[in-house]
Amino acid sequence: MKFEEKYKKDALKLGQVKLSDRQGAISWRSPSNIALIKYWGKRQNQLPQNPSLSFTLDKSFSETSLEYRYRGNKELGVDFKFEKQTNPAFESRIKTFLKTASEFLPFINYYDFKIESSNSFPHSSGIASSASSMSALALCLVSMELKLFGTPKDEKSFFQKASFLSRLGSGSASRSVFNGFVVWGKHKNIQGSSDELAIRLNQQFSPKFNSLKDAILITSTGKKKVSSSAGHQLMENHPFAAIRFRQAKDNLQNLLEALKTGDEQMFIRIVENEALSLHAMMMASAEGFTLLNENTWKIIYKIRQYRKEHKVFITFTLDAGPNVHLLYQAKQEKQIFQFIQKELMQFCEKGHWIDDKAGRGPIKLI
Ligand code: PMV
Repeated sequence: MKFEEKYKKDALKLGQVKLSDRQGAISWRSPSNIALIKYWGKRQNQLPQNPSLSFTLDKSFSETSLEYRYRGNKELGVDFKFEKQTNPAFESRIKTFLKTASEFLPFINYYDFKIESSNSFPHSSGIASSASSMSALALCLVSMELKLFGTPKDEKSFFQKASFLSRLGSGSASRSVFNGFVVWGKHKNIQGSSDELAIRLNQQFSPKFNSLKDAILITSTGKKKVSSSAGHQLMENHPFAAIRFRQAKDNLQNLLEALKTGDEQMFIRIVENEALSLHAMMMASAEGFTLLNENTWKIIYKIRQYRKEHKVFITFTLDAGPNVHLLYQAKQEKQIFQFIQKELMQFCEKGHWIDDKAGRGPIKLI
């Protein structure tokens, strides 16, 4: 627990520094991300059972503003609004997160906070917002540390700490603070990889995967029957857990190979295998549930059929829900838009889909 120890030590210093800023405001925009190698199953304190790999999106993001006012006594004061309205469920999650984060950023206990958050994608669009919203808030908190204490000292340490704190809010959020391909979780062949925070992969990858597009096909905006945290828990006594964690590690190793060599077939095989294995785990768990619906399967079938007929690089992945992420190269956009309009939109709820792509990572707004 290299980073946890370091940040706990730093926290002692942060407690001792004279608090100069009595009030201020910070705001970050942070994107969601889509995992190609899935994190599903965790150990204590939001540590993953296997490494995951994702790329950060562009149009699906959260914007969070944090206003702070020095209060002095040790009681956490939070006024939270989601899309301009009170939201008790989100507020309680935010409070829990701030409490956890205060172990590393003790100054949190001395301030009142006004937090406002909104998403670029419609509320209940079926897109998981915890990665974007938790990373946006974590970025605000590290910016606050920087304003008050002048630390972390450099950009690398700034984003490392933001990733570490994001992870405590939502595991997948740890990956959202970086652009490009991002790995969270230790893998013996990936230098610098860690269970505690995510890292950006700086290797040279094939240009084929430089500008991936992600059409998010919304088949349902309904509330999930089983939450992600319950899903992670179901991996605890899962009969296939050990095999699944091994599979994810092997898939990650092979996906890196495909990214380097530009092997599209291998990329497709692994990405689809990960998506379907994630959902197979849910079906084979003690609860025996699925988050997929009839239209998810119809879309998957159409994508595979289209690929076969047109010999074009398209594939899909799924997150913990029924929506399909259709992945393709930017240069095929025209052709794929037609395909979506003609053949896939009919399976989307009210014809709704989001034209997203690999993005540039978070942006500081204030
Ligand atoms: O970060 P969580 O606890 O919401 O879990 C996310 C799990 C998946 O989206 C299914 C996979 C992943 O790696 O993002």
